[in-house]
Amino acid sequence: METLSIFDRKWKLCSFTSLIICFNIILLRLTNLQNLHDAFLTLALTPNNYLTSENLELLKPSTYNEKGKCNLFEGRWVYKPMGNPLYRSSKCPFLSDQVSCRRNGRPDFEYEKWSWEANDCRIPRFDAIDMLERLRGKRVILVGDSLNRNQWESLVCLLYSAIPSSRAHVNFREGSYKVFKAKDYNISVEFYWSPFLVQLHSNKETTTRVLRVDKLDGSSRQWQGADIMVFNTGHWWVHRGKFKAWDVLQYNRKLMDDTKIEPAFEIAMKTWANWVDKNVNSTRTTVFFRSISPEHKGENWCFNETKPIKDESSYVPVFPKPLVETVERTVTGMKTQIRYLNITKLSQYRIDAHPTVYTTRKDKQLIESKLKTPEVTADCSHWCLPGLPDTWNRLLYASMILEGSETSTNYLHEVFW
Ligand SMILES: *[C@@H]1O[C@H](CO)[C@@H](O)[C@H](O)[C@H]1NC(C)=O
Ligand SMILES: *[C@@H]1O[C@H](CO)[C@@H](O)[C@H](O)[C@H]1NC(C)=O
Ligand SMILES: *[C@@H]1O[C@H](CO)[C@@H](O)[C@H](O)[C@H]1NC(C)=O
Ligand SMILES: *[C@@H]1O[C@H](CO)[C@@H](O)[C@H](O)[C@H]1NC(C)=O
Repeated sequence: METLSIFDRKWKLCSFTSLIICFNIILLRLTNLQNLHDAFLTLALTPNNYLTSENLELLKPSTYNEKGKCNLFEGRWVYKPMGNPLYRSSKCPFLSDQVSCRRNGRPDFEYEKWSWEANDCRIPRFDAIDMLERLRGKRVILVGDSLNRNQWESLVCLLYSAIPSSRAHVNFREGSYKVFKAKDYNISVEFYWSPFLVQLHSNKETTTRVLRVDKLDGSSRQWQGADIMVFNTGHWWVHRGKFKAWDVLQYNRKLMDDTKIEPAFEIAMKTWANWVDKNVNSTRTTVFFRSISPEHKGENWCFNETKPIKDESSYVPVFPKPLVETVERTVTGMKTQIRYLNITKLSQYRIDAHPTVYTTRKDKQLIESKLKTPEVTADCSHWCLPGLPDTWNRLLYASMILEGSETSTNYLHEVFW
């Protein structure tokens, strides 16, 4: 009996080991096949698609939640010093003084090293070469206020960093129109200054500044025909005192009461929505609306902050909620499908990412004098570059490839399902 049982145990051990070996071989085979499969895909995708294999990996359905959707805007900030920032400010000669924090002497750079991660999926890294390929032959326009200019500068620096400087054309000196061109790709990325989207008209005789809520800004003639449009508005509607840009509001040739701004804002958003529905061919054009960029003033004051806020409930919203609701109601109720870049919450965490007093190039005296009274001089509205707007553009890029156009959805179906 004893011998038999030893034999029995040995045999069991033996078969168990073979089973493990067998299992490992199968596993190895599978991974190899997977690698081959991926390699084949990478090859098959060039030259139309220059996705890195890392980004290709992210396109698999496993990166989506059960509903097959990924909310790019719900997530958290993760400290990732490797690979961040995506470009150097010294490599982007047209970066404006307003946001060139390093060049202006900001002593800490940790704010450049955070990465946004979504709860539902892994967000692809911004891949400038792939983005250039996707934009080949296209016109991209960003229309809005200085926060959209901030985003334009970021997008242009991201793309510029991936091409030889001799193959780029940049005109950034004019305040109301800026353009970047990537010659080899026939791409143009334009910025139109239009903080209200509707028309601000100065009457030459009376010098009265009239904000016409039912008439779109004159530059809208140039918006027409662009392939990708990114709009924003909001900040200038709430300016008061010396920053208020209009004297009277006009609707249907009549003056409008401006003691409450909500009704005027609602009409202006409708005016914009009607223009989009009438002038945009969705087969050709993708329209984005970027949500309000949060400020860190008052209780959220940004000066001296070097880390993102951990606890979101400690952020006290400054921007009026009814205006945000108007924007969301408008963009979700249109004939044209609008992609809403809902970056407000993720940006609220970034108390550390504003220029504060470092907004003037090499003017040490000015910075020193600003440092004496940061409570009045710190800029807690715009964002340092490289910095947060690079993430907005990464999400613009991600929403182009993940939620994607028809072709990329088909691509997902064909390849993985
Ligand atoms: C470049 O793109 C524009 C549209 O942005 C198009 O009208 C033009 O034909 C293109 N040129 C070439 C050479 O592809
Ligand atoms: C929209 O654009 C597509 C592709 O360019 C074109 O085939 C279609 O006729 C356009 N539709 C309208 C209403 O202009
Ligand atoms: C900002 O930080 C510096 C250095 O840590 C400190 O000396 C200064 O008092 C701080 N200023 C304010 C207003 O918190
Ligand atoms: C935008 O994000 C906020 C908070 O993250 C959320 O409450 C809101 O519903 C979102 N808006 C839309 C239109 O998805």
